[in-house]
Amino acid sequence: MKIIDGKNISNLIKEEIKVEVDQIISNGERPPHLAAVLVGEDGASLTYVASKVRSCQQVGFNSTLVKLPVDILEKELLKKIQELNNDDNIDGFIVQLPLPDHIDEEKILLAINPNKDVDGFHPTNFGKMALNMKTFIPATPFGIMELLKRYDIETKGKYTVVIGRSHIVGRPISILMNSKGNPGDSTVTVVHSRTKNIENYTKNADIIISALGIPGFVKNEMVKDGVVVIDVGITRVKDSNHPKGYVIRGDVDFDSVKQKASYITPVPGGVGPMTIAMLLKNTLLSRSLLKNY
Ligand code: GUN
Repeated sequence: MKIIDGKNISNLIKEEIKVEVDQIISNGERPPHLAAVLVGEDGASLTYVASKVRSCQQVGFNSTLVKLPVDILEKELLKKIQELNNDDNIDGFIVQLPLPDHIDEEKILLAINPNKDVDGFHPTNFGKMALNMKTFIPATPFGIMELLKRYDIETKGKYTVVIGRSHIVGRPISILMNSKGNPGDSTVTVVHSRTKNIENYTKNADIIISALGIPGFVKNEMVKDGVVVIDVGITRVKDSNHPKGYVIRGDVDFDSVKQKASYITPVPGGVGPMTIAMLLKNTLLSRSLLKNY
């Protein structure tokens, strides 16, 4: 069994990005600039966005954090998005999800200029991804593909089961895994909360990608020997013994499943750090590749 070290790979990717940024700066150009919009004070979102901003500094990007009150009106948020769309000093930006209930998420995502949509959530970019065209791939699925590539894990002709059908992870990774390419060329089943007897699918899977958000859901008896397990779950579970008052748990019962797995991602330190690295990669891409829509 091999542990897939997302922390290490994400650091390598950040070093590679830093080399490119240094080159950009030595050419007399301004460094890439990523902005993040955060509405409200949700603890997990604050942590993620702070980490995104910190990573920008590590690789030499400019970054802007736009913090807005939880009760901001939808039209005010839309105005802010137009400002970011029109700001030539910003290469890409994200609006951290989830948004408060009074804001229509779909309307917000549609307002983002696809050229600057480094999350890859705009329908234009999602459609391009589904058609195997060059575009921004959502950062978490992009990170999973990069891990599979860098660990040289065979996906061609394999049976992949994706657990979860979210727009951010399950749906896009299922498309990428069965698209032409390497990684890719896999036969994919997506199972979800309404699927009966999920274990009937997971037991046959060569690769399991779980993005469900239920800690410890995938158990030893649900997988076969030699399975590759990618755990996207990052749920905060209350733990009064921990100084923060919680611990982070994945979807996979790691200690039991690792006995059967050929490769497995830990939580934390697996897919999580890759998400930020690939967001930076998309921001770098937004300067060069995608100015020709
Ligand atoms: N919330 C959880 N994951 C993500 C992500 O990748 N991007 C944004 N914008 N919000 C998220």
